[in-house]
Amino acid sequence: MQSNGYQSGFGNEFASEAISGILPTGQNSPQRVAHGLYAEQLSGSAFTAPRHSNRRSWLYRIRPAAMHRPFEPHAHASFHNRFDETPPTPNQLRWDPWPMPGTPTDFVDGLVTLAGNGGAAEQAGCGMHVYVANRSMEGRFFYDADGELLIVPQQGRLRLCTELGVLEIKPLEIAVIPRGVRFRVELIDGDARGYVAENFGSLLRLPDLGPIGANSMALPRDFLTPHAAYEDVEGDFELIAKFQGNLWTARIDHSPLDVVAWHGNYAPYKYDLTLFNTVGSISVDHPDPSIFTVLTSPSDTHGTANVDFVIFPPRWLVAEHTFRPPYFHRNVASEFMGLIEGVYDAKAGGFAPGGASLHNCMSGHGPDAASFEKASAADVSKPDHLTGTMAFMFETRKVIHPTRQAIDAPQLQHDYYKCWQGIAKHFDPKRA
Ligand SMILES: [Fe+2]
Repeated sequence: MQSNGYQSGFGNEFASEAISGILPTGQNSPQRVAHGLYAEQLSGSAFTAPRHSNRRSWLYRIRPAAMHRPFEPHAHASFHNRFDETPPTPNQLRWDPWPMPGTPTDFVDGLVTLAGNGGAAEQAGCGMHVYVANRSMEGRFFYDADGELLIVPQQGRLRLCTELGVLEIKPLEIAVIPRGVRFRVELIDGDARGYVAENFGSLLRLPDLGPIGANSMALPRDFLTPHAAYEDVEGDFELIAKFQGNLWTARIDHSPLDVVAWHGNYAPYKYDLTLFNTVGSISVDHPDPSIFTVLTSPSDTHGTANVDFVIFPPRWLVAEHTFRPPYFHRNVASEFMGLIEGVYDAKAGGFAPGGASLHNCMSGHGPDAASFEKASAADVSKPDHLTGTMAFMFETRKVIHPTRQAIDAPQLQHDYYKCWQGIAKHFDPKRA
């Protein structure tokens, strides 16, 4: 499969043909599809979902998706949705980067679940995973029936060969693979590492802008969806499914990436985080970090997200007589963070690219002692330019449960709490 450009827009009615003249006009499911293809609908929302949130695509493919041998349970040591293995902790947690595997490991094998909440059965919550891989998926394909996958590369480019076409992403780009879409991950650079949010809730969408107006933050035109690209390949292949928290495997005698043409608004997409149009204060103080929301999965409570994907991109800090780094705070929501590159401005050290942190509901956090002292003494009559950095956050309304393997991992920094222990007492009622 070769990448062949992209279609621009978010949730648009896209249409693409790898061979021209296939897409029927005036109907979706004609008695006979051109070139002997089969018509198949892929629904990503309820049939009766409101029009603005209704997602489905029509696929015109060589064989229907139903054609495979029965699934059998497939053991996976580290990728799961068991979020009840340990008591959720109010402690601040931080991990070093997950190490590259010592044996040949592809994207699916290399998924490690660090934390999560909710689950597929609830149709709410989010799994939080890292992946470490050193080989492409060969002869195997994967789909996740439990949720859509937000993939955040930290190291190494990925080629995501999907039923609806090919997406290539590199660090500082993200991709979303919709629930149910079958795909294969090829590594372009060898070793690859990154993060995955597995969204069990409502589909990720662009946040509303409110008083910000029609522009800024992530622009719909910067989201890119692939053109149709198909494989007409037969052989002995493996189809791995994630279903209700467990993996299953089935033999399939052809590539399921055999969609020759498709149309609809349920499709994979990618986005370049460097295009995010960042807004912020030009007077004093901080807006809340929700101004950095790239995508949001709304919950059934208006204004309260199931999960938000938030970034901390390069930006100018210009707020006068203001403590400029992220403030000390406690949050009713829970925050899982990762770092793609550079340094996060609230920490002097210890949060490395590829690492992760978790600050649960109402757990105090914020700048470490060194960052506080530096920012308190900074000359804020001049702007600061934060460059070469990109941190992100999966923020959820429900408490995040770390998994047993995350708590037991040698990457867990047991001394993380110490970064706040050196914060000096400055209080003096006689001092101005
Ligand atoms: Fe926070």
